Amino acid sequence: MCGVVGVTGNKNATEILVSGLEKLQYRGYDSAGIFVDQPDGTDYLVKTTGSIADLRKKIGPEVQGTAGIGHTRWATHGGVTIENAHPQFSSDERFYLVHNGVIENFQELKDKYLQGVHFHSQTDTEVVVQLIDKFVKEGMSTQDAFNKTLSLLENSSYAFMLMDREEPETIYVAKNKSPMLIGLGDGCNVVCSDSIAMLNVTHTFLEIQDGDMCIVKPDEVIVNDADGNVAERETFEVSVDPSASDKGTYPYYMLKEIDEQPNVMRKLSAEYLDEAGHPTIDADLVDAIKDSDRIYIVGAGTSYHAGLVGKMQLEKLTGIPAEVHVASEFAYEDPLLSEKPFFIFLSQSGETADSRQVLVNVNKQKLPSLTITNVANSTLSRESTFTLLLQAGPEISVASTKAYTAQIALEAILAKAVGEAKGQSAALNFDLKGQLAVVAQGMQSIVEEKNEINQIAEDYFVEANQAFYIGRGIDYTVSIEAALKLKEISYVHAEGFASGELKHGTIALIEPGTPVIGIITQAGTAGLTRSNLEETAARGAKTLSIVKKSLARPEDTFVIPDVDELLTPLLSVIPAQLLAYYTSLNKGLNVDLPRNLAKSVTVE
Ligand code: G6P
Repeated sequence: MCGVVGVTGNKNATEILVSGLEKLQYRGYDSAGIFVDQPDGTDYLVKTTGSIADLRKKIGPEVQGTAGIGHTRWATHGGVTIENAHPQFSSDERFYLVHNGVIENFQELKDKYLQGVHFHSQTDTEVVVQLIDKFVKEGMSTQDAFNKTLSLLENSSYAFMLMDREEPETIYVAKNKSPMLIGLGDGCNVVCSDSIAMLNVTHTFLEIQDGDMCIVKPDEVIVNDADGNVAERETFEVSVDPSASDKGTYPYYMLKEIDEQPNVMRKLSAEYLDEAGHPTIDADLVDAIKDSDRIYIVGAGTSYHAGLVGKMQLEKLTGIPAEVHVASEFAYEDPLLSEKPFFIFLSQSGETADSRQVLVNVNKQKLPSLTITNVANSTLSRESTFTLLLQAGPEISVASTKAYTAQIALEAILAKAVGEAKGQSAALNFDLKGQLAVVAQGMQSIVEEKNEINQIAEDYFVEANQAFYIGRGIDYTVSIEAALKLKEISYVHAEGFASGELKHGTIALIEPGTPVIGIITQAGTAGLTRSNLEETAARGAKTLSIVKKSLARPEDTFVIPDVDELLTPLLSVIPAQLLAYYTSLNKGLNVDLPRNLAKSVTVE
């Protein structure tokens, strides 16, 4: 989703902006641009509907200014065109603006205040920059015009950076709902939607809050809160090693991230389990969950799928009922809650607007919450009561892999911690440390079968126009995730289905040659899922299977090592991740940056 970067100070702005945008590419984008302001008045606006590499090529050596703003756009209002790419500018080209978010009442504002103004784009953003220009022309200072414009925005989300050519070294910044950080450098300051974009400049960031309006200059940052008062905001250090986000020798980040999963399991085990295998989770967090009468798990996309597994783990190991919700649905449903609810937010990025909206509601009701995320100091992490970090290292590929497995492993650790505190025998007897070691080993053996999986992708999926993953119980939850991976990056229409439910309608879609993959890891339902798979084969489906060793038969396609039934998703998902990867690769697609998708979805 849209990314913003800005810099002002003693360094070449272009290089900082463009390399920042390169780092934000993973969020997903369809066009990009920068504006660089120079004290001598020679200013540059460069935009492209291509890649950041194209943008780089378009920028001439004469662009030497030390202040500027940049943007990667994920289209919401208006098609993918140069005109709609940001920065947007006022008619007289005095003001330049980049924006991440959505202005819900832009049409009303345009009709009310900007009759007769010539618009050169279809974006909601241009209305904002034209409004600022109008108010300045009527006699306001830039700061007052910016504030007045912000006060007119209703139900909107934004991370704005505004530049005024008459104040070439100043960047005006405002934030509401959309992520935005200010980085403090040596002789220069930066602004960005994600610290990863600016780690080459600084590791110290300022936490700005919704409603803040800030003025960023080379040697000072002034923060005004929503009431217009100067406010102090805390700084924090981001210690991620920038090289952790390098692709190394891999052709795509996704393959690197799939391969990293065994190590992520080992790291989580070392971080969160002691020598004897007992969880070392914050006692206040454990108590808060132990005291609750129901756990509400909230997430989107792959994180929601990880939540479906977490529900089973938490219920079995803690005895506390748990339910899982799609964030965007839960946010506006005004759900009936139990007397003592505890909320768990799952979010790789910690920035997903849908999940954040639920958290805002939860905080309004002063209810306790935990965010499980991969990104320290992300919005959800900062705003929830507790945080557990996935420790998976940056996940760059849009399709989530290692964050999914890390979430499941960490949910299991959390469930064991709470279950042990409650004296539940299922938790006390669960050798999670030993099992995670088996998982890591098992993942390693599956990722070493790349050639075979590549061949199956070619034989079964590259030419397919639809595919089904089926399973029961925990295997059903993995089926949905497996199908999502295939859809996201290979554009094969895929569904995950409860295998028993298939015959109640959807089996009508099975045609000769349709690939159907059964996931079979649970002793109690293995026979049933096998029958359902046979039913599709009888109608011409090309069937495949992912089966736990102790349940396997000679004809099974992927045999995964035996592991506790609550942890099988950690292994059964790996062949599915690799099948999606190789299908995409063999179709010649950009695996890491699939069409239409964004990694960090910061609009609702
Ligand atoms: C986007 C991404 C998905 C991700 C979902 C939730 O849709 O494309 O890969 O699962 O957001 O993201 P989160 O950061 O909250 O886990």
